[in-house]
Amino acid sequence: MSKELEALQTYFDLMSTNGMSYVFKIASEVGVFNTLASNKELSGKSIAKKLDLLEYPTCVLCDALVEMNVLTKNSEQYSLTPVMHFLSGNYQNLSSEYWEHFPHFLKTGEPFKKMDTTTDSEKEYQVQVKALEWMMGPCAKMAQTHAKELLDNIENVLDLGCGSGVWSMAFLQDKNPTRDTLVDWPAVLKVALDSAKSQGFTNQIETIEGNFHEANLKEDFYDLAILGNVTHIETPKGCQDLFNKSFKSLKSGGALVIHDVYGTHPKGEIPRLLYRLGLSVRTVQGRVHTPDEMRPWLEKAGFTRFEFKSLDVTPYSMGSFYAFKP
Ligand SMILES: C[S@@+](CC[C@H](N)C(=O)[O-])C[C@H]1O[C@@H](n2cnc3c(N)ncnc32)[C@H](O)[C@@H]1O
Repeated sequence: MSKELEALQTYFDLMSTNGMSYVFKIASEVGVFNTLASNKELSGKSIAKKLDLLEYPTCVLCDALVEMNVLTKNSEQYSLTPVMHFLSGNYQNLSSEYWEHFPHFLKTGEPFKKMDTTTDSEKEYQVQVKALEWMMGPCAKMAQTHAKELLDNIENVLDLGCGSGVWSMAFLQDKNPTRDTLVDWPAVLKVALDSAKSQGFTNQIETIEGNFHEANLKEDFYDLAILGNVTHIETPKGCQDLFNKSFKSLKSGGALVIHDVYGTHPKGEIPRLLYRLGLSVRTVQGRVHTPDEMRPWLEKAGFTRFEFKSLDVTPYSMGSFYAFKP
């Protein structure tokens, strides 16, 4: 591609991305999604009438939303696609508030949220982890396959900062005779337990409520310890503490796996960079620690062998860093 053509393509890509984000935001603000959520399907004319909008631009807006895969159109009737039913918490507005706060954050360093603080994390995550369960589902399934390739026997799994339990419950979904110990704040564990109940896993789950830094864990017991999207809300000191704890809780030959937004797939590069920006504005000191940065901390805890697995599935930005206990 010539330089001129590349510049023109970049311009059109920017215009499309910006336009799509406005179309989504406008539709959300004027109430298109809420109206369709309560009416199942409506014509463009009915949507416009219900929302007191002009018919023609409403129909064009809805057609753009169809192209963006958030609405479907059947015989002039629009309805929501599954993605709109899944979006909850801050994800419902695609985290717009974070971006709107960003100029202020750049100047003052004041984050929009403090999701990495012990005072705020429970209330924030109890509304976010259900959506994370959906987002991480395909990665968790793939990670489960990797773990079974890397470890001979996975009977007992420890999931620290489990959220919905998406990573550890992937073992139960695959009918492994596994028992999972989930550790998180009480309100978040409730979400995980609801998920376990709806999938029929209650008997294979144990929970430990409260701060994972203070949790009393069984020693030399687990085959696999999981830190899924957790190290990026911890300082290096916090990570070291979690690595030490995980090491003690693992059996000899067991492994700790750290799932995070490492972004090794080219398709994941934009999501990874946007994720880093988003993380900086919603935490006090959130940082994605790379495998190279974490390796000395893991060695200090006693781990001796390491392996990285890319999770080449949507959103293409996740990876798994395994550390083995000798
Ligand atoms: C980004 S979420 C990840 C959830 C889940 N592992 C996943 O990947 O979907 C981080 C989780 O760690 C939990 N968490 C953060 N700090 C914690 C602490 N000090 N003690 C216990 N849980 C904590 C949060 O409540 C939240 O569920």
